Amino acid sequence: MRINGQPGHALPAADRGLHYGDGLFETLAVTRGEPLLWEAHMARLARGCQHLGIRAPDPELLLHECRSEIDAEQRCVIKLILTRGSGGRGYRPPARPSSTLIVTRYVPPDHPAGWWRDGVRVVRCHTRLAIQPRLAGVKHLNRLEQVLARSEWSDPQIAEGLMCDAEGRPVEGTLSNLFLVRDGRLFTPPLERCGVAGVMRAQVMVLAAERGEPVQEQDITWGHLGEADALFLTNALIGLWPVRSLAGRDYATTGIPRWLRQAVMPLALGPLESIATQA
Ligand SMILES: Cc1ncc(COP(=O)(O)O)c(C=O)c1O
Repeated sequence: MRINGQPGHALPAADRGLHYGDGLFETLAVTRGEPLLWEAHMARLARGCQHLGIRAPDPELLLHECRSEIDAEQRCVIKLILTRGSGGRGYRPPARPSSTLIVTRYVPPDHPAGWWRDGVRVVRCHTRLAIQPRLAGVKHLNRLEQVLARSEWSDPQIAEGLMCDAEGRPVEGTLSNLFLVRDGRLFTPPLERCGVAGVMRAQVMVLAAERGEPVQEQDITWGHLGEADALFLTNALIGLWPVRSLAGRDYATTGIPRWLRQAVMPLALGPLESIATQA
């Protein structure tokens, strides 16, 4: 772990990330020693900084920090946390804050390869996402909704939980974005009220647009999910997981474009077994 450019584990107890969740984070996949989708992660971090009024760090410096933590490791996860730093009177941000940067390396999650191949089982979470347009899309440190939602199931066979907004519209998974396939067309919920604007979601949208099959951002209801031909989830580490069941309904994975599943594979960690075939 590195804190503000130095190896270490200690942080001032006055850090606003701890007190108020006053900060942002990025979780990056690293393969062959290189962070994937680096520009996309940096662009989202910069947007988040603008939203919160935190000075955006130089991406070159961040890359240097990440590389220092990666060493020669081939395949890992890097979590980058940027807080506003310490101080301020109560909630009021300090006039001249000095932000805190934490870079941590993790072993990649060891999910079964079948989750990529055959799809994942997903539950419907009771915990709702609050509607807050000023924070919608931002990967900020306040993640208590996801913590509560993830506490709703303990069955290791269940990979993800789908969360609705306060008005009952399905929005995203606890750690992933949601896509729906209907009659060969792709849809995803808009993220203007709540949710995290995933870098992999954006990537899927770019790939689909380049292919001439643009993803439509559209409010999705439980009725739409029931009528869908296929569903899938995305994030920067997993890439793409087809959904094989959600809240008791089974889905075929065949409706998900093959080209899309293949195009996403090299952009994420994917299953461990695919590493052997890559090498
Ligand atoms: C709540 C939430 N939504 C969506 C995502 C997907 O974001 P990304 O594609 O940037 O990993 C994440 C990732 O952790 C998440 O925590």
